[in-house]
Amino acid sequence: MGYDRCMEEFDYLGEGEVYLDGACQSLRPRCVIEAVKDYYTKHNSCGERVKYKWGIVTDEKVEETRETVLKYLGFKAKKYTVSFTLNTTYGINLLLSQINPSKFQKIVTSEIEHNSPFLATMAFSKRTGLPREVLKREDDGSIDEGSCDFSGAIVVVNCASNFDGRKLVNLKSLTKTVHKAGGIIIIDAAQAMAHSAEVLSGIEVDAVCFSAHKLYAPSLGVIVWRDELVDYLEPWWLGGGMVDDVQKDSFLLSAEGKEHRYTRFESGLQAWGEIVGLGAALKWLMRVPKSDWKSFEKNYKELYEFLAESPKVHMVNLEANPTMSFYVEGMDSHLLGTALSRENIMARTGYFCAHYYLDHVLGLPPLVRFSLGLHNRESDIEKVKKVMEKIIR
Ligand SMILES: Cc1ncc(COP(=O)(O)O)c(C=O)c1O
Repeated sequence: MGYDRCMEEFDYLGEGEVYLDGACQSLRPRCVIEAVKDYYTKHNSCGERVKYKWGIVTDEKVEETRETVLKYLGFKAKKYTVSFTLNTTYGINLLLSQINPSKFQKIVTSEIEHNSPFLATMAFSKRTGLPREVLKREDDGSIDEGSCDFSGAIVVVNCASNFDGRKLVNLKSLTKTVHKAGGIIIIDAAQAMAHSAEVLSGIEVDAVCFSAHKLYAPSLGVIVWRDELVDYLEPWWLGGGMVDDVQKDSFLLSAEGKEHRYTRFESGLQAWGEIVGLGAALKWLMRVPKSDWKSFEKNYKELYEFLAESPKVHMVNLEANPTMSFYVEGMDSHLLGTALSRENIMARTGYFCAHYYLDHVLGLPPLVRFSLGLHNRESDIEKVKKVMEKIIR
């Protein structure tokens, strides 16, 4: 099977359109769009409540999505629960808002975070009075485990960055260190799920938050959490679908048993169609042939090497990754983005919500970001190279 097999799923892309913003939102394969369409046209119904047949189909598909998320991550269904939310940001904030702070001593994050965990940890610290520490990330993405006392720490860090894709390569031993010290570790996997989920595979972190929209799926958030975390939670964001019984001034959470534990983070009706679409996206990703992954790798490596060797181009990346950021000496990145757009090349410019690190630690000017996906063809790379050469000249 050649790369064309993968490309068929994106055949709606117009001639000459080059989409390089997958780190923000992936393009959705046709099979995902079809799965969502099927929900709306064939079994539009509320999940987990109704007894009529459309609802039963929805229930089966939603359950299948929860199982597929765990399978994709290599996590054990016995130990983890999958809850749906709005996006990564919402998931991290929701988790932190329900964690009982009296069980912890500090909150820890890292310098290369997206504003999503960076601001959420700041807010947590302000609200609870617990100190916050911002750790350095090494060039290879690791965190020096000796650089912090993790006793009673809530660690919230990404396992792949959104500007150069560097990974938290020592996640396994970091998780052990944090647990040994009585802390917990929450992972922002927004950028890892589509192309580098192996960084998380089977590692027993306490929670993983990600956005389905960066994973070839519809707009949706997911929290995958270790069941033991329930001991640290104080539920207060409550509503429909979460209780077994309600009295005048009290209620009984239905989340007490494993079977309904996911409701802890799912108050009210969920985005059933999007959940079904996520299941379809994960199944599609697991079916993508090796040859297509090879073509994808070839594409992003070629573009990275071209940029890294171009005069006047300053890369943030130290190595090739599907996500790469740079600036061109003497050129305003936003103007460069506009010039690319005139050629039908869609790329992002600015600090990509990583202001603290890119602007204040590295002192860089606003950047351009190319983030590739499985929809990109070889011809896209040729076109970007040609246009960039012309612009730089
Ligand atoms: C690493 C990382 N974390 C968190 C987020 C926030 O994702 P969302 O806006 O879907 O909540 C992003 C978005 O780009 C991201 O790249």
